[in-house]
Amino acid sequence: MIEPTGHSELDALLPRIAAIAGLDADTLEAEQTALLGRKAGLFTTLLRSVADLPIERKRTFGATVNRLKTAAEAAVDARRAALDAAAAQAARRDVDLTMPGRKRAIGGIHPTNAVVDEIVGIFRGLGFSVATGPEIETVWYNFGALNFPPDHPAMDVHDTLYVDAAPAAGEQGDPTLLLRTHTSPVQIRVLQETPPPVRVVMPGMVYRKDPFDPSHAPAFLQIEGLAVDTDITFVDLKATLAHFARSFFGAQTVVRFRPSFFPFTEPSAEMDIQCRLCAGKGCPACKGTGWMEILGCGMVHPNVLASAGLDPEQVSGWAFGMGPQRIAMQRYDIRDIRTLYEGDMRVLEQFR
Ligand code: PHE
Repeated sequence: MIEPTGHSELDALLPRIAAIAGLDADTLEAEQTALLGRKAGLFTTLLRSVADLPIERKRTFGATVNRLKTAAEAAVDARRAALDAAAAQAARRDVDLTMPGRKRAIGGIHPTNAVVDEIVGIFRGLGFSVATGPEIETVWYNFGALNFPPDHPAMDVHDTLYVDAAPAAGEQGDPTLLLRTHTSPVQIRVLQETPPPVRVVMPGMVYRKDPFDPSHAPAFLQIEGLAVDTDITFVDLKATLAHFARSFFGAQTVVRFRPSFFPFTEPSAEMDIQCRLCAGKGCPACKGTGWMEILGCGMVHPNVLASAGLDPEQVSGWAFGMGPQRIAMQRYDIRDIRTLYEGDMRVLEQFR
């Protein structure tokens, strides 16, 4: 409460200043302009009128106007602060701190892709580059160039879908189209384009007339590897693949090479690693054998080098093919290959 001023025209302002404490935000704004506005506010007008007053009134009147103005400013500031505090409190009450947070779905790399990336990474570290080839191949690239004799029984495990489309003009050999049954045709495509020395890994999908059961899939991944140079020997193959096995499965990994057969390699072998679950003693995971098959490999057959336009007297090479999904199953103890195709979040979340 401000005491009466002794100036009746100014006393009329006292209740107005007192009322500021009860104004809402909008009327406070309007009243501030009306009273304190720099150009046309009431106090500005009053102060301007002081100049015209008789000298004996000037002093006290002017001082009183200034005192009331200060009081009005203080009242506006106080009211604004009170309104702001109330608004902040209301806003705080609008936030429900007990509400659960909004969940963000963060993706992860699929275990199959993670294994492919890791395998490719190990070979990149050895100086291999990466190549890919078409999933729809000609019979020549898939079989003929790879030294499969026509109607050879080795083709029986490579039954696949043939594609009913006109073959491209000028294709070498049998141009009939099929879904490739392995990544080995990419060996030929790379060698046709790149003169040795060649060090390359070739990941990709392949297709076979296989059932979709715990250990088979009609569409699956392979990673092919190829090294062609002068004086490449079986020693290079063994050392490189053993290094790979130890990098991927652990430094203590024991490997063995078993004689095998592929039309496109001679000699041919399968590389096994000793079962890590039973240390070679034999358990259900390795079907009692103590070993797990990891890949097929061998020295590139001279006929394959010749198919690609190279002279087998000048260069030699080795190659391998492996199934990264089988390898992922072994590493993560996945018992059914179909798990890798299903996209079941309960499984995939474990690999994030
Ligand atoms: N292409 C063979 C398969 O699919 C694997 C392989 C590749 C074997 C290269 C030897 C050399 O079974």
